[in-house]
Amino acid sequence: MRPFLPKPMAGAPPYVIAHRGISAKAPENTLASFALAASAPGIDMVELDVRLTKDEEVIVLHDRTLQRTSTGNGVAHKCNLEELRTYDAGSWFDPSFRGERIPTLSEVLRLVGPTRWVDIEIKSDPFQADRRGLIEEKVIAVVEQSNMKGRVFYSSFDHHLVANLKRMVPDAVTGVLYNLFRDFGRLPSKLARRAEASIFICAKTELQRSMIDDARRYGIAVYVYTLNSIKDAQKMIQLGVDGIISDNADDIVSLVKQKQ
Ligand code: G3P
Ligand code: MG
Repeated sequence: MRPFLPKPMAGAPPYVIAHRGISAKAPENTLASFALAASAPGIDMVELDVRLTKDEEVIVLHDRTLQRTSTGNGVAHKCNLEELRTYDAGSWFDPSFRGERIPTLSEVLRLVGPTRWVDIEIKSDPFQADRRGLIEEKVIAVVEQSNMKGRVFYSSFDHHLVANLKRMVPDAVTGVLYNLFRDFGRLPSKLARRAEASIFICAKTELQRSMIDDARRYGIAVYVYTLNSIKDAQKMIQLGVDGIISDNADDIVSLVKQKQ
């Protein structure tokens, strides 16, 4: 697979990014969901969320707590990987997915790495201030061990974390996620350049024409989430975004990839 570039080649359609895998059809952030994304033709990339366990393993999980997406309870970072493995991460979505587990980043990279780029969204946790810097270090180590350097990018709502990661790996591709309440009124160029990032990511309801214009002026890529309908995807293609993040990327891919 060729190395990842923040923007598609000139004239090419936007990247299609499977949000937490094909999370509309399988439990989010599980191997089942990522397997669907790896087998659906035309998908460029998968997005996933990472956190640290108590024993400093990198797991793929969106929430701080376990109860929404597994049979576990309480906060994930207080559990060792072995304990987390005992929880069922599939049956909350549908009984047919019973037996899915919370995966490690390394397992997901092994599954999707040969055919897809990966957007690793690092969840930072203010309740783990004593572990500052640790998750970046562990994630980088997993990516290097998995031979995925050059085929992933790192994103976070925590722009200090993004800047720190860039200091640790100067050739890493990074993205900043927009937080409306914190970042309102700040343009992509300001936020991205401050963290030395090359990608700006925001929700579909947050995107303004002025943001697109500013990003284009400074050569910053713009990705938008979560676009689950053809109508939403069409609107964003017309606005000229570089990446479309969707829960049902397999359904919208043919629209995005058709000649505009
Ligand atoms: O990276 C885009 C999106 O995943 C950010 O929000 O809450 O789905 O992780 P969330
Ligand atoms: Mg995410």
